[in-house]
Amino acid sequence: MTVPFREARIDLDAIADNVRHLRALTGVDVIAVVKADAYGHGAAAAAVAALSGGANRLGVAEIAEALALRRQGIHAPIMAWLHQPGETFVEAAAADVEVGISSFDQLEAAGNAASVDRPVGIHLKLETGLSRNGVAPRDWQRVFAEAARLERIGRVRIVGLFSHLSNTSPQDDRAALARFDEGVQAAASFGIHAEILHIAATAAAIELPESRLDAVRIGIGLYGLSPFDDRSSGELGLRPAMTLRAAVAAVRRVPAGTGVSYGYVHRTDRDTTLALVPLGYADGVPRQASDRGPVTIGGRRFMVAGRIAMDQFVVDVGDTHVAVGDEVVLFGDPTLGVPSATEWANAASTINYEIVTRIGPRVPRRGA
Ligand SMILES: Cc1ncc(COP(=O)(O)O)c(C=O)c1O
Repeated sequence: MTVPFREARIDLDAIADNVRHLRALTGVDVIAVVKADAYGHGAAAAAVAALSGGANRLGVAEIAEALALRRQGIHAPIMAWLHQPGETFVEAAAADVEVGISSFDQLEAAGNAASVDRPVGIHLKLETGLSRNGVAPRDWQRVFAEAARLERIGRVRIVGLFSHLSNTSPQDDRAALARFDEGVQAAASFGIHAEILHIAATAAAIELPESRLDAVRIGIGLYGLSPFDDRSSGELGLRPAMTLRAAVAAVRRVPAGTGVSYGYVHRTDRDTTLALVPLGYADGVPRQASDRGPVTIGGRRFMVAGRIAMDQFVVDVGDTHVAVGDEVVLFGDPTLGVPSATEWANAASTINYEIVTRIGPRVPRRGA
């Protein structure tokens, strides 16, 4: 079988299975987080897979991402929580996209975007310690009073109250959870009884049972990657969905002492074979992993030799027989003997989230 030039294979069954696993583990609803093109996996396909695995709702950052999913025929409840200044919510309302509300002004805009017979679905976001968006405690009373009024007159439907954790430590997350609970009580005193309370993303959903509430917002876990430094996907019962691979584009035999790629940060220490891989930092392969990122070629493990360039990098394969067209796997499911996205993250001093999310548009995503 011919190996594609470059490809990110997306195992959609793995996404569905990861949702099933996390629903069973947590026992609550799953909001599948498919922002940023589903962390690089392809938003629409990942959303469909997550819903088939039992996800109850979808979450994205921006309204534009939600509208794109609607255009692709996805009718499940979707919420979007990061808005441009002056956002009117008119398009969101027309497409039945629920919106996260972080300020009084956003609340007013949402109320104004309602049509006569259809309130805008909102999730009030409470600031509980992450210091990003979310209504600050000093504004809770004013915002709750107005939200309750808008709900009474049919302009908004308060679907959710939510917040987001810092994952600093269990103590910090419990403190945020306690602040959230104060917010929920304060909202109740204004007659607000949201349909769902949600605060946990993947890490807390797994680690902090009391944070599960009515729903968990699962991003990285959907894609089968671990949010923890000390536990692998396999240990969490998750299966990585993305395999990044390419075909060897050129092979050359070189003598000892040959400089490899820009800056000659690598020189061969013996007569050896160099294989050229057509993936570079334009494709999201981090340049910081130069001279150490792991790959497998024909099932054997090697490392990037020298600098990763925009479109390509070199692997020193020694005396192993490698031919043009052979399969190179950068990362995938490590239980199958290939490197993990987390190994690339370690090689580049970053997190696995960034490794998969930054895979560029030049790399075709194909369902496996
Ligand atoms: C508000 C919010 N909820 C949930 C998530 C999902 O987080 P994770 O990928 O850690 O599950 C994110 C992602 O950053 C987020 O911004």
